[in-house]
Amino acid sequence: MTKTLAIMTGGGDCPGLNAVIRAVVRTAAVHGIKVLGIERGFGGLFGNGRVRELGLDDVKDIMARGGTILGTTNRGNPFSFDTPVGPVDRGDEVVRALKELQVDALISVGGDGSQRIALELSARGIHVIGVPKTIDNDLDGTEVTFGFQSAHEIATEALDRLHSTAESHDRVMILEVMGRDAGFIALETAIAGSADICLIPEIPYDIGAVCDRIATRVRRGTFFSLVVVAEGAHEKGGEVVTIHENTGSQQVRYGGIGEVVARQIRERTQREVRVTVLGHLQRGGAPTALDRVLATRFGVHAVDTFMKGEHGVLVGVRGGKMTTTPLPQALEKPKMVDPLGEVCAAARAVGISFGEHA
Ligand code: F6P
Repeated sequence: MTKTLAIMTGGGDCPGLNAVIRAVVRTAAVHGIKVLGIERGFGGLFGNGRVRELGLDDVKDIMARGGTILGTTNRGNPFSFDTPVGPVDRGDEVVRALKELQVDALISVGGDGSQRIALELSARGIHVIGVPKTIDNDLDGTEVTFGFQSAHEIATEALDRLHSTAESHDRVMILEVMGRDAGFIALETAIAGSADICLIPEIPYDIGAVCDRIATRVRRGTFFSLVVVAEGAHEKGGEVVTIHENTGSQQVRYGGIGEVVARQIRERTQREVRVTVLGHLQRGGAPTALDRVLATRFGVHAVDTFMKGEHGVLVGVRGGKMTTTPLPQALEKPKMVDPLGEVCAAARAVGISFGEHA
C-alpha cells in the first residue's frame, strides 16, 4: 500500500524552508511515497488553509526562494488555539484530520514551539518527525539549525555597512538583532563584523562597563564604536525589553533594547548614538548556499528516518553527521551561548566587550 507523509511548516519563517520541502518531496518520490502539504501551519487542518498533494512539479525552482510555499503562522497552536473567548484545545481535531487523511507520519518543520506541538501530537498517537528550523539557533537537538547562517550573513552585511558610516560621523552605532533568549546571531555577527561591544541575553550587561569601553576607544583616538545588541539582552538585574501588544496565548514579542542602550550611552558619554533594528530582514529572502545544503540534508534524513520506521524524533546534525534525537530529550532545555565557551573566549580575545567588568 502507498505510504503517505504530511509536511507542514510552523512558527516564524526562515530561509531554507522550501529547500526542506523540495528534499522531502523528491526523496519521497524515489520511494513511491505520497506527500501531502498542510498549508498555514495547522491552519490547513482547521479550514484556514488547504491540504494538497505535493508532486515534483510543485517543488520546481523553489530551492533559492525565501519563505515557505506552504505558508506558516506562529499563532496556530492547536493545543492553545486563540478564540474570542480565550485559548481552546483543538488538538483532537488535528489528530482526527490526520487520521482521516491516512497520514502515516507528519514531518513538522519548525522551531521550539512547533516541535512542542509535534511532541504533544506524538503523545496522542501521531507519528511525527521534527525538522529543526529557526534563525535563533536555539534548539538543543542539533548543533545548528538552518536559517541561522542566512540571518547571520544578513546581519554581518548590515554591520559592515554601519561600520563605514559610524566612522565617517564619529558615532556609536547600535545594531539590534533577533534571537529571542539566545545570543547566537548577535555573537557571531559581532565577531564577523568586528564590533567593539556585544550584548547577549546569556551575559547580562553592566552599562558602566559598556561606556568604559567606548571611553577607552575615544582616549585612544577612535571616536566611533560598533555595538551589536541581541533583542533578548538585558542589564544585570534588569528585564528583557518587550513590545506591548495583545499576543493572545502566543509568546510576547521582544524588541526595543537597542533604544534603551542608546539612551544609556548618550546620557553617560554625551556621544552621538544611532540605532538600527534589523527586524524581519533577517528572516526574508534567499537562503545561503550552506543553509540550502543543510535544509536539503535534513529533508532527506527526515524521509530516511520514516523509512526506517523511527518517529517521535527530531533530526539534526552533530559532528558533521545527520542524527535523530527523541523529541522529549531534544526539547528538555533550549540551546544557549556558553559565556565560558570557546566562541565567547575568541570574541574577548579580539577585543569585544560583553559589558562585563574586568
Ligand atoms: O524565532 C524567530 C524570531 O524571528 C525571533 O528571533 C523573533 O523574536 C521572533 O521570531 C519574531 O516573531 P514575529 O515574526 O512574530 O514578529
